[in-house]
Amino acid sequence: MNTDNLLKRSIENKELFWKEQAREIDWFEFPQTITSQDQHHYTQWFADGKLNMCYLCIDKHIEDGFGDQIAIIYDSPVTQQNKKYTFNEAREEISKLAGGLVSLGLKKGDTAVIYMPMIPQTLFAMLACARIGVIHNVVFGGFAPHELVVRIDDCKPKALITATAGVEIVKRIPYLPLVEKAIELAQNKVENIIVFNRKLVDNQHEMFEGLIDYEELVQKSEATECVAIESTHPLYLLYTSGTTGKPKGITRDTGGYATALKFSMKYIYGVEPGETYWAASDFGWAVGHSFSVYGPLINRNTTVIFEGKPIMTPDAGTFWRIISEYKVSVMFTAPTAIRAIKKEDPGGELVKKYDLSHFRKQFLAGERCDVATLDWFEEHIGVPAIDHWWQTESGWPMLGLMTLDDNYTIKRASAGKPIPGYDIKIFDENGYELDANHEGYLVIKLPLPPGALLGIWNDNERFQSSYLSQYNGYYFSGDGAIKDEDGYIFITGRVDDVINVAGHRLSTSEMEEIVSAHPDVAECAVVGIDDDLKGQIPFATVVLKNGSVISEEDIEKEIVKNIREKIGAVACLKNAMTVKRLPKTRSGKILRKLIRTLLDKKDFQIPSTIDDERIIGEIQQKIMEYRAENKN
Ligand code: COA
Ligand code: AMP
Repeated sequence: MNTDNLLKRSIENKELFWKEQAREIDWFEFPQTITSQDQHHYTQWFADGKLNMCYLCIDKHIEDGFGDQIAIIYDSPVTQQNKKYTFNEAREEISKLAGGLVSLGLKKGDTAVIYMPMIPQTLFAMLACARIGVIHNVVFGGFAPHELVVRIDDCKPKALITATAGVEIVKRIPYLPLVEKAIELAQNKVENIIVFNRKLVDNQHEMFEGLIDYEELVQKSEATECVAIESTHPLYLLYTSGTTGKPKGITRDTGGYATALKFSMKYIYGVEPGETYWAASDFGWAVGHSFSVYGPLINRNTTVIFEGKPIMTPDAGTFWRIISEYKVSVMFTAPTAIRAIKKEDPGGELVKKYDLSHFRKQFLAGERCDVATLDWFEEHIGVPAIDHWWQTESGWPMLGLMTLDDNYTIKRASAGKPIPGYDIKIFDENGYELDANHEGYLVIKLPLPPGALLGIWNDNERFQSSYLSQYNGYYFSGDGAIKDEDGYIFITGRVDDVINVAGHRLSTSEMEEIVSAHPDVAECAVVGIDDDLKGQIPFATVVLKNGSVISEEDIEKEIVKNIREKIGAVACLKNAMTVKRLPKTRSGKILRKLIRTLLDKKDFQIPSTIDDERIIGEIQQKIMEYRAENKN
């Protein structure tokens, strides 16, 4: 199969191309209208089609005679639990939970926040919402109450579905105190709080008034059938970091997304129905939505829910154990996970303990993958490691390789070529397309293909200004890139204030807002610096207010604590260095890129717009002293 040909067809005859792809899934009413415009002249897909995502993921396979196939494998080394669910068993629980939601008054178009760990009940909750047209918003379990509050106030959920606790290696993370705090702080009052009691410890003291027990709700409720949903009805909202402190509620449609995921499973991942496919991501991220839940289940793959880490649960062989035990054919993870394994097991000794003969392909995304990690992987695991690129906004890959027929060529350090549907160009600042081998901004000609974002929840202005206003007729990705003469694209990193910490997308602007709120801080800059394991980690540089008497050690401790309390430990901000002045342009803009370069000890050119060059020497001196004291 010729990949370039598929791309060409998808761009030149997009309606016909995607209509054909839409036939690969089952619709209650097949769309007659393939593309149309919303009131803001943004393209929507399959507007008059009707379908149901939960039906595609579960019921359809039962109707086709696969009810006894394992749909979900739950493997939790942190709680020593292991459980499998067939499609029949999954439908039983999901349809009753959906019935429970209906009995609480939830209906199509309402929203529900899901704040849960890596357990099957999270997937059940997502699919129960999808079954009745309730728009879910999954919030990563590692986020602090403040992040939950922002989401509750933005999407005004009618229900919050949670669990009593998550487990981080050996540490139990109680959720209910966090939930209680969030609902106290949120302006929007949530009517229904449903809690799945994991019974890991005696947790009665954590319960508070008005909680609805998940298991009781499921037991007493009648199963409910899949509701016919318009293709453009939002399936979910997923908040992601942007260039301001407030996360953006990326809104996903139903029909376009289902079509794009079915296409991805077949052409990009090359996985056959019935095989086991594992994306080792938390449900709270885009990968978790598309490739731990919806993509594999639409494709009738067995999906794995893994509650653990690539290392220490119990060792760096845990990924290989899972692949071997459940005969995983295709896997997806973030490069940081492979770096963590490589660090613990450089010689690949733990790999040798397992039979990986079923394993065919490893996909990587979420951050740039260094060549050394790819080499280690291929040497020790012996299957191709395929980098590919996408964003929460797209919901499915935009760069990658079509691996269906195994006729593809990997280019080291490249995230691949444009995926069908994505007309990708590299622009300079003025919107001129750059020649091969020149670095510029990665943009995509509109319309975006099915499955890409519908917009930002209740904020069309921000949608326009974040993505559509930079270059007329193009989507602005926020990433820098270079295309080579063969059409392979190399991502060079974000061009905005977004950073990737261990595959987690975070906003340095949000961190700056928190750091600046400290009463002793006059101004600050938070930048992402290079890190061998996590790719990037945030680093704060602060200027104290005149007359402030706080010590440098204390301000650092307080800033670290504030970030953990507001965003969560996952932000990994561990350093806050006090300086006398920040480098700025003559017009007063902080030169963050310069600070980052100095912290990374990279070569730099003195910016022509700098106000006072002497600050560079001051900061370099301070970095040396700081590193000597902190031994890093
Ligand atoms: N709930 C509560 N806390 C969480 C959490 C969760 N779901 N996830 C992470 N945290 C906490 C950790 O406990 C840790 O806290 P600590 O500072 O008190 O120790 C902190 O957040 C940082 O966690 P993490 O970034 O996971 O670092 P780590 O050192 O524990 O593990 C890796 C490093 C590389 C193994 C891990 O980050 C990893 O597996 N990353 C892959 C990410 C991924 O799959 N991304 C999806 C995109 S494909
Ligand atoms: P998220 O929305 O969390 O999926 O993060 C998307 C961002 O992660 C992109 O804009 C990129 O900056 C980065 N990213 C994702 N995949 C890759 C990749 N394969 N190579 C380099 N960066 C990537």
